[in-house]
Amino acid sequence: MIIAVDGPAASGKGTLAGGLANYYGLPYLDTGLLYRAVGLAISGHEDRPNFETVAIAAAQALDASHLTDVAELTTAQTGVLASKVAVIGGVRAALFDYQRNFATQPGGAVLDGRDIGTKICPEADVKLFIQADSKARMERRARQLESRGVVVDRYALYHQIEERDARDLANPNGGFYKADDAHLLDTTLLDIEAALRAAIAIVDGTMARK
Ligand code: DC
Repeated sequence: MIIAVDGPAASGKGTLAGGLANYYGLPYLDTGLLYRAVGLAISGHEDRPNFETVAIAAAQALDASHLTDVAELTTAQTGVLASKVAVIGGVRAALFDYQRNFATQPGGAVLDGRDIGTKICPEADVKLFIQADSKARMERRARQLESRGVVVDRYALYHQIEERDARDLANPNGGFYKADDAHLLDTTLLDIEAALRAAIAIVDGTMARK
């Protein structure tokens, strides 16, 4: 069974996808980490004229199966860099095969990202599109950062999330939209447990109809 989980920044899709993988005993890939690793690799080059070439080379050189230092990958700054490299077609192309192979491994997998249901695995058995309003997403991301001891400026964080949404939505190479056959799950008013229960109900219901 392949489960595709897409949605905007800080929608809770990572927590949900990880929870589903755990529940169904499937391997899990957070594809945002791949873009984050490329973003981190080109940090400092983002305003240079050869930025695209450097980013594509970094994506091609990435050893996606050995992503280390996850803490540095998950910072807000790395998220901004990731959203900049994610608009480059050559970067997306370089990361495609790894994601595709992960999705189609025997036994299935859970992947979360932006384009899993539309581009990476359009034939996924179950597609979820996770939504939550920007304020709720900001608050969740703020608490996540605070739990790691980071001092958070909520106003700045809110704008950063809106800015990333805008860049993600305008991505001409993206496919960052809800697939026609994806199930919409709005988690604005749900805590983690309730959201996971709702997601499991969608997966079980979809598989039962197959
Ligand atoms: O989900 P995240 O915050 O870790 O994603 C970081 C950035 O990577 C986000 O701005 C969009 C990009 N991304 C992407 O383009 N395609 C994916 N499948 C996953 C993430």
